[in-house]
Amino acid sequence: MPSTTPSPNGTTFYLTTAIDYANGAPHLGHAYEKILADVIVRFQRLQGRGTHFLTGLDEHGQKVQQTAARRGLSPQQICDESAGLFRALLHDLNISVDDYIRTTEPRHKAVVARCLQQLFDAGEIYKAEYNGFYSVRQEQFVLEKDRNPDGSWPEIYGEVVTLAESNYFFRLSRHQDWLVKFITENPDWIFPTFRRNQVLEFLKEPINDLCISRPVERLAWGIPLPFDPGFVTYVWFDALVNYVSAAEASPGLWESGAHHVIGKDILVPPHSVYWPCMLRALGLALPKRLIVHGWWTLGGTKASKSTGNATETLSLAKLYGADTFRYYLIREMPVGQDSDFSREQLRIRHKTDLANDLGNLLNRLLSLAARHTASIVPKIQQPGTPPPPAREKDDGTLAALWAETAARYLDLAAGFQFHNALDALWQFIRAMNRFTEQRAPWKLGKSANPEDRALLEDTLANLAEGLRLAATALTPVMPTIAAQIQSTLGLTPADTFLNGQLAWDPSKTEGRRLAEKAILFPPVEDPATAAGTQGKP
Ligand code: MSP
Repeated sequence: MPSTTPSPNGTTFYLTTAIDYANGAPHLGHAYEKILADVIVRFQRLQGRGTHFLTGLDEHGQKVQQTAARRGLSPQQICDESAGLFRALLHDLNISVDDYIRTTEPRHKAVVARCLQQLFDAGEIYKAEYNGFYSVRQEQFVLEKDRNPDGSWPEIYGEVVTLAESNYFFRLSRHQDWLVKFITENPDWIFPTFRRNQVLEFLKEPINDLCISRPVERLAWGIPLPFDPGFVTYVWFDALVNYVSAAEASPGLWESGAHHVIGKDILVPPHSVYWPCMLRALGLALPKRLIVHGWWTLGGTKASKSTGNATETLSLAKLYGADTFRYYLIREMPVGQDSDFSREQLRIRHKTDLANDLGNLLNRLLSLAARHTASIVPKIQQPGTPPPPAREKDDGTLAALWAETAARYLDLAAGFQFHNALDALWQFIRAMNRFTEQRAPWKLGKSANPEDRALLEDTLANLAEGLRLAATALTPVMPTIAAQIQSTLGLTPADTFLNGQLAWDPSKTEGRRLAEKAILFPPVEDPATAAGTQGKP
């Protein structure tokens, strides 16, 4: 049953991912897309906005039918098996979905049938004889103009056969001028903007009407056309509708404007051409934005179900913990660009950014407080009291640095620059480390001078507050670690959640009882990295 994460101010941010094909196991590409979407949605929640986060499974089509035949199972069995694997992935990666849609569910089939009937009645769908080329792999008709200059077919089409059959067509071409105008006038509709040019380039040529049916003799595994039981619905026409059919149960949700997170391979033409035209023909609102990410590659090749280790890579989320895995993927890939996956880089991020910079800093605070303040967060020096002498050596106050960091962090996240947002946050975390080095509280603790004692207390109070805020800011990317840091600081999520929480406010940490020790990032040995094999025979 779909639920929405409630909104304190009445607006709901509707975010979707692509629905994954049911004919294969989840791999790195699927994992990244879910994590990226989860980060976007959690950033919204962090700022007090209500969200509705949808993902799901694309279950119809020839590939599922073929896989089922090959394995001697029914198509539904294949889909159920996949649904189990993909849902386990969501769980393992701590993806906070509000709803999961499968295209074989009655709630979806009913909406697809309704849309088809409406378009048929409105004359947007017609029947015609088709005589031409058909790509078995892409499950679509292809044209002369799609050939390579040497006459062969591009590899993405796989086997191309000739076909003559009657089918139903959606009058896509009718909407071309409108679409070009819409995309031109709404430069932010596609993120990143350079992808928009690709769409406009595609739309320079006249587009053909879209074949939206397949005869049942050729494809039985699909949603029957409501006006002709001899045909089932083309899988893309069926799949795209999921965004609307899942929103049915939540009145006003679709109209509030969806944000679709998708990979670059499914932007042109499905999401940037078919989908807006379908919606326009149906008289439905358009999505607010398409957020288009690039590809993860493994040794330069796109991670896919045929890249053997793309699935195996997911085991690293178990080895390092889901939060380290999330951190690595978000830290390394600028949204929109491609990145090559590196186990070595994952190992380094875990050890350096996470265990050293963040984990050790927290432990320093905990052990100093255990030794000198009975694990209670002391009071911060009040403004107006004369600064303790050692202050002159400080980089500047953490409070001021935090104010800059928080503003920059949220700004970068709002522009989907999550890799840079994390970089900004880590600059603050490293500044806290330098601050600690400069103040050398371990020396202050040995002094009998009351000024040194005051400075020691001030140092610990600053660190506690800085860590509280860093952890809160980190919630969207590393939800479990953030919660662990909060609890180590004697806070509950309720103490830090919602609006204004990124403001420097030492009263939130003062007097809290700290834990004595926290092992957030235990050392990990990955045998596939250089370090993992060091010292081994
Ligand atoms: N079923 C269609 C989408 C229908 S949406 C109405 C589909 N499925 S897919 O399983 O092939 O891909 C699902 C998503 O994963 C797509 O957005 C795709 O771009 C993404 N990725 C698949 N491989 C990828 C990488 N190697 N890297 C990053 N993401 C890629 O397409």
